[in-house]
Amino acid sequence: MPSYHNAFADTHILITGGLGFIGSNLAHHLIKYGAHVTLVDSLIPEYGGNLHNVRGIENQVTINIADVRDEYSMDYLVQGKDYLFNLAGQTSHLDSMHNPYTDLEINCRAQLSILEACRKHNNRIKIVYASTRQIYGKPDYFPVDERHLLHPVDVNGINKMAGEWYHIVYNNVYGIRACALRLTNTYGPRMRVKDARQTFLGIWIKLVLTGEPIKVFGDGLQIRDFTYVDDCVEAMLLAAGSYQADGQIFNLGSDETINLRDLAQLLVDIHQGGTFETVPFPPDRKAIDIGDYYGDYRLIQGRLGWRPGVSLHEGLRRTLDFYRQYHTFYW
Ligand SMILES: NC(=O)c1ccc[n+]([C@@H]2O[C@H](COP(=O)([O-])OP(=O)(O)OC[C@H]3O[C@@H](n4cnc5c(N)ncnc54)[C@H](O)[C@@H]3O)[C@@H](O)[C@H]2O)c1
Repeated sequence: MPSYHNAFADTHILITGGLGFIGSNLAHHLIKYGAHVTLVDSLIPEYGGNLHNVRGIENQVTINIADVRDEYSMDYLVQGKDYLFNLAGQTSHLDSMHNPYTDLEINCRAQLSILEACRKHNNRIKIVYASTRQIYGKPDYFPVDERHLLHPVDVNGINKMAGEWYHIVYNNVYGIRACALRLTNTYGPRMRVKDARQTFLGIWIKLVLTGEPIKVFGDGLQIRDFTYVDDCVEAMLLAAGSYQADGQIFNLGSDETINLRDLAQLLVDIHQGGTFETVPFPPDRKAIDIGDYYGDYRLIQGRLGWRPGVSLHEGLRRTLDFYRQYHTFYW
């Protein structure tokens, strides 16, 4: 166990979105390191929260079913905490276009009120915010580094950008230690796979396991990078534990890039079964598609020593194994 994990022993931690994919994986790790963990989640059915995600640690975490839009709940919940991993979010890009005000309330306004709760009730807390590469929009150059212009292509990207910058402003102006990680496609056990609301890869995993063809939109030549969830969790822990991260924004990224056709084929190969087909892009998705994306993670590597440790092949293998075992809880 790396020494920085010991620093979480006996600390008090709040994870917003803690019953979701990344939040629950983070909770599993923090419990191992001896932290006292409180999870706050609204369990809105369309989002990624799932009580099965805390199976095995349900008696070791405190679960608070609350909405981060509720300022009174947040005023109370931030008190006495050493760290806040701020992960609650509406994650669907398409939903953000159909329902822009809900996205605004959760990904933008609630982020400001969470920070206000910290300012008024616990300004010694350290915050790690889960931002997204979506805020870069359609890339101007590759690999995309943190200096790349922000020109989001959808409402979700705009609101996440605001959410991110509120954190940086509260760090800079009020000295509330906060940083942001711009996550790229993150995958692994406990992700939402019943539909494509969280990521297209989720529904692909379900389709390959249920023997239905994976649908790849367009020509399938769009390039992406992926982060296995345990690597994402490590980045969050490193960022939480480091003063060097305060006020900083870091990309996560990968050493491997892959186009979507090859990714579909890789899933089929690892599962040793299944098929994929290319289908025309649905127009509403095409309108907000970013084309190719892969990021540059050298900044976090240089400052915090993070780099991805799990290959795409190994990560997908572990993910498929998980859903073979637990699919009844996920679709
Ligand atoms: N998974 C990815 O590939 C990815 C990529 C970039 C950024 N992110 C960001 O990481 C964070 C976590 O994402 P995830 O993949 O674990 O998704 P997720 O949907 O599994 O987790 C988000 C959680 O937030 C909860 N939530 C949503 N609105 C809430 C509200 N108003 N009050 C309380 N809880 C609420 C949901 O119930 C869910 O459990 C999100 O902020 C997302 O934008 C994820």
